[in-house]
Amino acid sequence: MLNLEQPDLVQINAIQPHAWFLPLANSRNEIPDYPFTSERVMLLNGNWDFTFYPASSGLPSPIETAFSDQGARQTISVPGCWEIEGYDRPQYLNLRYPFPVDPPHIPNENPTGVYQRTFNLPTEWSDKAVILTFLGVSSAYEVFLNNQFVGASKGSHLTSEFLLTPFLFKDAENILTVVVYKWCDGAYLEDQDMWRLHGIFRDVYLVARPEAHLQDVKINADYDPDTLLGELKISFTTNTGNVLALNVRLLVESHEEVLSFQTTSDHTICRSMLKVDPWTAETPNLYAVIIETLDKQGNITERIGFRVGFRRVEIKAQQLLINGHPVILKGVNRHEFDPDTGWTLSKQMMEKDAIMMKQHNINTVRTSHYINHPYWYHLCDQLGLYVIDEADLETHGFASAGNWSELSDSTLWQAAYLDRAVRMVERDKNHPSVITWSLGNESGLGQNHREMAAWIRANDPTRPIHYEGAGEDDLVDIVSVMYPAIKSLHEAGENEVGDSRPFFMCEYAHAMGNSPGSLREYWEQIYQYPRLIGGCVWDWVDQGLRQRLKDGGTSFLYGGDFGDVPNDGNFCINGLVNPDRKPHPGLYELQYWIQPVFVTGIDLTHQTLTLQNRYDFLTLDHLEAEYQIKCEGKVLQSGTVPIPGIGPGEEAMIKLKDAIPPLPINKEVWLFLTFTLKENTAWANKGHVVARAQIPLNKVPISLKAIQTNRKLPFTLTHEEGRENAVIQNDDQTFFLNVNTGWIERWQIAGKDVLLEPLVLNLWRAPTDNDVHLVDDWIYDGLDRTHTRCDCLDVRTSGGTLEITVNGVLAADGCKPHSTYQIQFRFSPDGCLEISLNYKSLTLMERLPRLGFMTRIKSVYDQVQWYGRGPHENYADRKDSALIDVYSAPVSALFHPYVNPQENGNRSDVRWLILDGENAPKLSISSHQPFNFSLHHCSLENLTAARHLHELNWEPAPYLYLDFAQTGLGSNACGPDTLPEYQLQPGEIEFHLCLSAVY
Ligand code: GAL
Ligand code: MG
Repeated sequence: MLNLEQPDLVQINAIQPHAWFLPLANSRNEIPDYPFTSERVMLLNGNWDFTFYPASSGLPSPIETAFSDQGARQTISVPGCWEIEGYDRPQYLNLRYPFPVDPPHIPNENPTGVYQRTFNLPTEWSDKAVILTFLGVSSAYEVFLNNQFVGASKGSHLTSEFLLTPFLFKDAENILTVVVYKWCDGAYLEDQDMWRLHGIFRDVYLVARPEAHLQDVKINADYDPDTLLGELKISFTTNTGNVLALNVRLLVESHEEVLSFQTTSDHTICRSMLKVDPWTAETPNLYAVIIETLDKQGNITERIGFRVGFRRVEIKAQQLLINGHPVILKGVNRHEFDPDTGWTLSKQMMEKDAIMMKQHNINTVRTSHYINHPYWYHLCDQLGLYVIDEADLETHGFASAGNWSELSDSTLWQAAYLDRAVRMVERDKNHPSVITWSLGNESGLGQNHREMAAWIRANDPTRPIHYEGAGEDDLVDIVSVMYPAIKSLHEAGENEVGDSRPFFMCEYAHAMGNSPGSLREYWEQIYQYPRLIGGCVWDWVDQGLRQRLKDGGTSFLYGGDFGDVPNDGNFCINGLVNPDRKPHPGLYELQYWIQPVFVTGIDLTHQTLTLQNRYDFLTLDHLEAEYQIKCEGKVLQSGTVPIPGIGPGEEAMIKLKDAIPPLPINKEVWLFLTFTLKENTAWANKGHVVARAQIPLNKVPISLKAIQTNRKLPFTLTHEEGRENAVIQNDDQTFFLNVNTGWIERWQIAGKDVLLEPLVLNLWRAPTDNDVHLVDDWIYDGLDRTHTRCDCLDVRTSGGTLEITVNGVLAADGCKPHSTYQIQFRFSPDGCLEISLNYKSLTLMERLPRLGFMTRIKSVYDQVQWYGRGPHENYADRKDSALIDVYSAPVSALFHPYVNPQENGNRSDVRWLILDGENAPKLSISSHQPFNFSLHHCSLENLTAARHLHELNWEPAPYLYLDFAQTGLGSNACGPDTLPEYQLQPGEIEFHLCLSAVY
């Protein structure tokens, strides 16, 4: 039996680790795809019998009697996580261990699940060796077949195989029982920041193989960038050590044979000087190696296959080279996560992730922080994604419980560390997509890492080694960091110490909630310095578990929502995409900054553009480009743009064929370029946009009267009898200014009310996750509960303009006034209300969340059109992907539903917006200073307080925010603060707005 507290015991009776493949009968000539369509494979997925014990001490003996009491028999789906299926509870923890740090001991109360199912073997399998494979079981398990102990394993994300033949009934039903323990010593090595889930969470299957078979095949498909030729090396290991006769063929994917060999398993095939199309993430050219094993009579007993890509990975002169060319890793970190099934991912979900990554210009994925399902690597090979394959290893909890390197330096744990490297490398070594081995994550640094690295270097010298925890230690081939400030990235680029290794951000741009800011600044550094080879955003997907609500609907839940104590709350909601894979705006910004084409210059007089090809391998020949010249949303001219022969990394001038039309003098004109795929690919169709650009064609001041009314509509002032309002009126509009408060209380157009609440000053925003370090100061200053007091109001008229000046102070309950303001309301003869704010902070030291006006408009206003950045949400430090144009949308579509609701939906650099609705008189708001606006169907208090989307109360009348500015986003929840240039500093601020009806 398995000792759960003996770290050097990692497996019992398991088959030696080897490259992952599936066998086929000799009748077919392809490589089985997920879900493993082969007559030599029997999937054991489905409903299994299940009983659950709160502590392993409760397990019956012998184990099969667990099911003799029919009442105890329940059903569970395999693969799946038992917490999701209603046993125990999901727990989300970042770095704390869920149990006392007392290695190698685990709690006596170790929840245990017993799984059982039966199977019958096909008669064709009766002369075969039958092997049972588990692709992932957390965290330790014992396998029994027909009441006999077969074997056991630890290592949650690692593959284990057991030979079942000696225990099998060939002609009768077989009973397979698996005892899964929540914890074992291995759990000390699996302290990754994630939901802590357990059970048989990946596929389980049987394979039938000839008694004598290939146990391992090692394929090295090298590519020589100097000769442009490939070299294929294949070596074999048999299960018995006996020599097997083999037919080996190399095919191009279309099944056209390139090479064939008749050989034996004791020979290494080595064939150089092959003319091949090399593999890169941009050119995922794959070949197939099909291997047939023969019996003594020469009959084919089995066929196995691998997809092979010819490529070479090297570190040279501080760069990472693929096939001799430096590459930039435009990456993301990805946890395997599904909102409905936890760690269990469907084929569709894996495909969706890979395709979405490709569509957003991502070329790298770090399998943070464990090796993934085998199908993921197949997708990466096939679609073209570089993989940083990471060992299932993290001991983060030791960072706070004493010595972070305690286990990493302990000989008692050496075998377990090594096991996690060996089982990773052996399983994944034949994948062209895997370009780097990562020794794990956040486990301090110790001798055991050195043993891992030494073993890897001896067994696979073809790939560099990554481990962030090693810092600049010689152990690693790539210097890797997490969440550097832009400044330190710059320093690493300058590399004054002269480190010969490339510099990589294995994690950066922490995408928690409304985040990350400053992708621009990171990428400007990366493109500038050859030593900076890129980075992986933390991370791909929000890990929110979807839960049905009692009163209908669903919501995404996070740490603490399952009564899981302790927990780390919503720190698992850091993705570029929602749990259901809907993109967050941050993904669009990343897509923009890593796009393969940039316009780096424009010469208007010669009508030329400089295009830069930022692919590492591709020319731009597979793209087509179109342009549009637009003025305030109107297309003045459009056409195609020739992009001839621009090689990877090159810049070239291109000339617009069509003459640029005469530009209007008073309006902004923009040139838009889109670069799209000419042909369908495996990951997107013809027409998919891979890059965009926007270039100003003129520089004109933004005119305040963006919405021109040529009519003369002077206002007159009356005092409403017995009321507090000054009434300012023309033929179409009426404004009611409360002389007590100094605020516009009502606005009528054509006799219809526009506002539901007064237009007042506001400094507060519902804190973003990144505001976490600012909130206390903001609340201390009372920004969340500021009142205004109008202390002086002055009315005058001059030249047909009626001017009301209001002076006031801002202060919160219990606090001294923190700011003063003066507002001029200028009712001009052309029917506009111009509002000029002069704001001065008195005592505030910290940056402001925002500064502007807020009001509430009538619910009839359900449509908005704006000229500014869009269509998606944007902020000062995350706006480059949101091009300036005229957009329109339903008001409800402007809200961005972050799992933990927070400030969202801002649109910046806005010149004007128009609100509209059925039976609603159109109104416009404009400014000659680009401003920000947002519209929400929930209140600011509600948005501030809500911790889940289902806690929002949707109200029909929208809340409108018109801001001078907001402080940018940064990524301070786990990264650097918002850069100073994006912080809204208190001080003296002038802000102008113009309100008017639109006719
Ligand atoms: C890193 C860690 C990740 C995750 C992230 C914060 O330190 O490697 O696993 O915890 O921080 O979201
Ligand atoms: Mg960690």
